[in-house]
Amino acid sequence: MTELLAAEGLSRRYGSLTVVDRVDLRIADGQRHALIGPNGAGKSTLLDLIGGAQRPDGGRIRFAGVDVTATGPAPRARLGIGRIHQRPAVWPSLSVLDNVAVAALPHAGRGSWWPGRYGRRVRRPAAELLDRLGLAEHAARPAGHLSHGQRRQLEIAMALAGRPRLLLLDEPAAGLSASDTQRLVGLIAELPRTVAVLLVEHRLDLVYSLTDVVTVLRDGRVLASGPPAEIRVAPALQQAFGAGVS
Ligand SMILES: Nc1ncnc2c1ncn2[C@@H]1O[C@H](COP(=O)(O)OP(=O)(O)OP(=O)(O)O)[C@@H](O)[C@H]1O
Ligand SMILES: [Mg+2]
Repeated sequence: MTELLAAEGLSRRYGSLTVVDRVDLRIADGQRHALIGPNGAGKSTLLDLIGGAQRPDGGRIRFAGVDVTATGPAPRARLGIGRIHQRPAVWPSLSVLDNVAVAALPHAGRGSWWPGRYGRRVRRPAAELLDRLGLAEHAARPAGHLSHGQRRQLEIAMALAGRPRLLLLDEPAAGLSASDTQRLVGLIAELPRTVAVLLVEHRLDLVYSLTDVVTVLRDGRVLASGPPAEIRVAPALQQAFGAGVS
């Protein structure tokens, strides 16, 4: 498989605290990769470093053959890195449809602006995405009126509208009901293999069912990385989470 992301020796410090410590992470095109570890392990910080929200204090990142270490989130998004956050981030006063349409704007072609007459170019694909995510009936509602689970789905629709080659998902199932979690799992499982996924998730049953490779992080360091069947019996899992976890 072709390499999509290669992070080498990534480090991030807050004062004297090293929260990401010389991390190497490789993600192939289309791969489903999980990042697991206890609270404070540095998972969200690592996603920030990959998405460009934070700059590393050491190491480098190549994405799709381009060294993006020194670039910000916008150029990385244009190259194909999409992100959903630990807390859903949507525009609350815009309609659900317009949230997705705005996210699709960079792909609408030259001369597009919002909410100009080219809006239709982004509204149609946005409506299709909402349909796929089961949000079509809420298209006209302000996003701020959605339930937590629906906001999660909307945020994924927004990320997909940016046509990512890598989707960074930070605890997408947190706070979701059992039925919303089921829907989300189906959605992630059905993503086309043109999209690679880096999933941060505490629920190991979801991790094992959704991903090809699992990386275990503790205190900012990679303890182990491998297929789920290997990781679930690896000593690193107990080392990271304590005895009794599988
Ligand atoms: N802005 C900040 N300033 C100082 N320390 C921070 C900051 N952001 C995060 N940290 C610390 O960095 C460490 C890693 O945090 P991070 O949020 O990446 O962990 P996490 O693995 O995502 O945890 P969780 O599972 O709770 O989401 C923690 O010890 C946290 O307290
Ligand atoms: Mg986190």
